[in-house]
Amino acid sequence: MTRFTPADRLKQLPPYLFKEIDRLKDEVKARGVDIIDLGVGDPDLPTPRFIIQRLQEAALDPSTHRYPSYSGMNDFREAVVRWYQRRFGVTLDPEREVVTLIGSKEGIAHLPLAFNNPGDLNLVTSPAYPVYHIGTLFAGAHSHFLPLLRENHFLPDLSQVSGEVARHAKMLFFNYPNNPTGAVADFGFFIQAAEFCREHNIIAVHDAAYTEMAYDGFKPRSFLEVPGAKEVGIEFHSLSKSYNMTGWRLGFAVGQADVIAGLGKIKSNIDSGAFNAIQYAGIAALDSDQSSIRENCRILQERRDILISGLRKLGYAAVPPKATFYVWLPTPTGFTSAQFTGLLLEQAGIVTTPGNGFGAPGEGYIRLALTVDKSRLEEALDRLARLG
Ligand SMILES: Cc1ncc(COP(=O)(O)O)c(C=O)c1O
Repeated sequence: MTRFTPADRLKQLPPYLFKEIDRLKDEVKARGVDIIDLGVGDPDLPTPRFIIQRLQEAALDPSTHRYPSYSGMNDFREAVVRWYQRRFGVTLDPEREVVTLIGSKEGIAHLPLAFNNPGDLNLVTSPAYPVYHIGTLFAGAHSHFLPLLRENHFLPDLSQVSGEVARHAKMLFFNYPNNPTGAVADFGFFIQAAEFCREHNIIAVHDAAYTEMAYDGFKPRSFLEVPGAKEVGIEFHSLSKSYNMTGWRLGFAVGQADVIAGLGKIKSNIDSGAFNAIQYAGIAALDSDQSSIRENCRILQERRDILISGLRKLGYAAVPPKATFYVWLPTPTGFTSAQFTGLLLEQAGIVTTPGNGFGAPGEGYIRLALTVDKSRLEEALDRLARLG
């Protein structure tokens, strides 16, 4: 076979987060173990029926079969504007301040190509969703990691960023409600982040993928609610978690018009937009009464409560997340993240994600996703109890 050398950017990639877990999982499965998968953050609940029905109708309409517009259908961008106004009280211009994405991951990965030159620096929280760092690497830039520590409520301490680093930084990536820690940001932090970015001429990039997954009546806010935030940054959003649509690939970015235009320019040269029929289904989701979101949160909150109280009874220091479907659990004394994840898989058939896979400051934690129903969570707790 002819051998081809991959580009250096591929060699720079950190090992795939789930690679070792997948290998172990296959090994344990091959032994006939019934696996309980709390690993990947992919909702098990189905997409609401009315959204599927809208796709069915739209897919039968031949006008949806042609190339979509690069920046998204006007109707979809207008639905995003209505949703932002209703949900956050934020006013957006559908022409200049909204771009449709093929899932928010696509936009996050492409954004650095629009604003980073090789050698640039981006500020990236850690642990984090890996794509902020990987998008940065692909653009030839470097990440300066800001640790998210329990003692700071898993918020980055922007006062610790040196003047030198701040001067060189081009973007600040942050994400609340947060994957993987489940932490939420108070509005004061958003104000501080906007001020910091304005002072240092940094693009604020807030990933708001989990604002619609929250519990106990808590309503996460948008970074763009901060007066003036729209001048310093953008916010990524996704229909994936809000409406259980991970496979559909639909998201959007909103905010600072030049940043949106830059991202749009990259996209227009790389992809050809999201399938129009999916955008019609997305409009149905955004314009709906949002009762499907409330029902989703009710189910997830019940799961969260079962898992947290069960873990606490077994002596684990589990803290209930106010939002997201992730439990960020400190490992028992004497275990690294990888050792504890390995033990849970080998001895209890439970798949979890080692915290350090999201960045070095995640060492000492594992992430459990609430992606199985309550009877399976109870089964997982029974197996943990048997572990002793
Ligand atoms: C924090 C965060 N942002 C973005 C995404 C990507 O979502 P999507 O590309 O499905 O919109 C995910 C997916 O898990 C995520 O956890």
